[in-house]
Amino acid sequence: MPDLSSPLAVGGLTLKNRIIMPPMANNKADEHGFVTDVLVQHYARHAAGGPAMIVVEHSYVTLAGRVDRHQLGIWSDEHVAGLARLAEVIHEGGAAAIIQITHGGSRCPHAATGATAVSPSGIAVPGDPEEPRPMSVEEIQAVPELFAAAAARARLAGFDGVEVHGAHGYLLDQFMSPFTNHRDDEYGGSPEKRLHLIGETLRAVQRELGHLVMMYRFGVDDRPVDGITPAEAAAIGPYLEGRGVGLIDCSGGLCGSRPADRTEPGYFVEAAAEVKGMVDVPVAAVGGIVEPAYADDLIRRGTVDAVCVGRALLKDPEWARKALESLKG
Ligand SMILES: Cc1cc2nc3c(=O)[nH]c(=O)nc-3n(C[C@H](O)[C@H](O)[C@H](O)COP(=O)(O)O)c2cc1C
Repeated sequence: MPDLSSPLAVGGLTLKNRIIMPPMANNKADEHGFVTDVLVQHYARHAAGGPAMIVVEHSYVTLAGRVDRHQLGIWSDEHVAGLARLAEVIHEGGAAAIIQITHGGSRCPHAATGATAVSPSGIAVPGDPEEPRPMSVEEIQAVPELFAAAAARARLAGFDGVEVHGAHGYLLDQFMSPFTNHRDDEYGGSPEKRLHLIGETLRAVQRELGHLVMMYRFGVDDRPVDGITPAEAAAIGPYLEGRGVGLIDCSGGLCGSRPADRTEPGYFVEAAAEVKGMVDVPVAAVGGIVEPAYADDLIRRGTVDAVCVGRALLKDPEWARKALESLKG
């Protein structure tokens, strides 16, 4: 029976244990999204603390998809050299290196992009900074290649793979959710069509990654907004698996990653377990996982295959090493 310390195969990678550091934005890149020394030091410190995998924070694939002026960027080939420094220090610390690639859609403030934010149908996600405008078909058709080019840069930079951001009300999540996608063309109008852009994006990303790992951060619950439910998300799991996703990282949908009313330990675990019931690829859960014994129990019971530990790891970069040691006793 696997436990928190057991290895896990993710595509062609073997993780040394079941602890993942999920993407957490520092917003400490320079104004063009280039890696800074502060970021290199941050990831070096965290990799040395013992997690099996680090998912580097959300990196924008195009300026129109930037949510913060100091967000990390992966939108031009010039970013590769700096990103390679991150992959290198993460590997030196003994962890697998993945980078999250993203387009913020309607969540992008004008101050970060210099333009009006875009979205499937011009419907804002609660909490959006401004009113978005709907995307044209030509704009939507360009999205998969933006993600694919970012994936190619991640490969060149030496990452083991990428995580496509499809959660937290960002662009791909907005296409999946019936709350924000009211289109009546090939990109909306039915559950299948709402997945069309995600499918095309995954196909293009996979083409560039080759044998590297493609992960998906999956928005499994839109509550309190009337959108995707965990049961609907579970039914979408096989679609993601069928498009080459090697690990499904289940988090919040339009409600974001840390909804104010969800403070219980493992607040997205149940939804992640529903997804796990529908697929064969590994599934990770996130949200309020703090106690090592609880994390270990989730693996031992087979609830999920891996745990993402966010804020607890930020607070204590040694969390993973200490957790595994404490469980040995
Ligand atoms: C400071 C901070 C930055 C975050 N940035 C990202 C991000 O870049 N991409 C993402 O998918 N989630 C992001 N998240 C969400 C975390 O990955 C995680 O899902 C969330 O913190 C819940 O896990 P936790 O309870 O273990 O912290 C961020 C969270 C925090 C606290």
